[in-house]
Amino acid sequence: MLAQLRDLEREGLEAARAGGDAGALEALRTEYLGRKGRLTGILRRLGELGAEEKPVVGAEANRVKEALGALLDERAASFASAADAGPRIDLSLPGRRRWEGGVHPVTLVIDEICDIFRDLGFSRVAGPEVETVEYNFSKLNTPLDHPAADMHDTFYLSDGVVLRTHTSPVQAHVMENHAPPVRVVVPGMAYRRDPFDASHAPAFAQVEGLAVDEGITFADFKATISEFVRRFFGADAKTRFRPSFFPFTEPSAEVDVSCRICRGAGCSACKHTGWMEIMGSGMVHPSVFTNVGYDPEKYTGYAFGMGPARIAMQRYGLPDIRLLYESDMRFLRQFV
Ligand code: DAH
Repeated sequence: MLAQLRDLEREGLEAARAGGDAGALEALRTEYLGRKGRLTGILRRLGELGAEEKPVVGAEANRVKEALGALLDERAASFASAADAGPRIDLSLPGRRRWEGGVHPVTLVIDEICDIFRDLGFSRVAGPEVETVEYNFSKLNTPLDHPAADMHDTFYLSDGVVLRTHTSPVQAHVMENHAPPVRVVVPGMAYRRDPFDASHAPAFAQVEGLAVDEGITFADFKATISEFVRRFFGADAKTRFRPSFFPFTEPSAEVDVSCRICRGAGCSACKHTGWMEIMGSGMVHPSVFTNVGYDPEKYTGYAFGMGPARIAMQRYGLPDIRLLYESDMRFLRQFV
């Protein structure tokens, strides 16, 4: 047994000297000195010994335990102090600013628009960007030979499948899935084969709006939009409704707001008219109601579609829409 103890001591000391880190030393301590360790294994058999041998072996076991324990402690301490002596921090160095994300200016405008309409009773919903020709055009009373449906304006993905050219098809999805009354705003991207220039982008944001119920009139539409303009642009902003044409509304109108840059006096941003157009709109065409299964004799409603990037240009005085769609951080950082 004495020989076993000495073997154990020799192996243990050797292993402790070789132990490469604090974890390895802890594992050795468990293996040799732990409750179920090798030293305990030997001591368990102390009972087999005679009365003279027992104290000799016991004393030797204690000596081995202390010797090995001391070496393990010493080695573990050397690792701890090496860690303390790690890289020093120079508190006098100037700090580096942490990278911080921000909300894109077009998203800021979209959120503000949707918040105002939420207060006026509208829910915010979304719809697919890949659409069928049926939803993008036909359901919206737009015959395929209408200029808007022409190949030149539309990105076709395959026969009968397009990138939506406006958010209006979501009107059809909403009405097909919900019985009236309906009040929704639909922010999202739309795509057209337009040149990328100061006032056009081939991918651009829109916010669609739709309200359908019994007895809705054009007066309700004017009141709602005028209130929206007051809240978004301020109490001094004037609203103007101009007759227009869209296949899915009758009558149709475009809505202008007095130019925020020159306050209506005329400037290059409003092409010296004093007004800026903010949306297309109108009373939902009875054929659209029929196409989605609503009774056009019973229900009326209004719809509108606006371009939040155009609105952001007015709000922030931007000369070029590309600033909003090119992800140049030198520009975008100003909004963080
Ligand atoms: N979808 C039209 C466009 O992209 C905008 C529009 C006009 C939407 C009239 C409407 C509407 O909902 O009623 O040019």
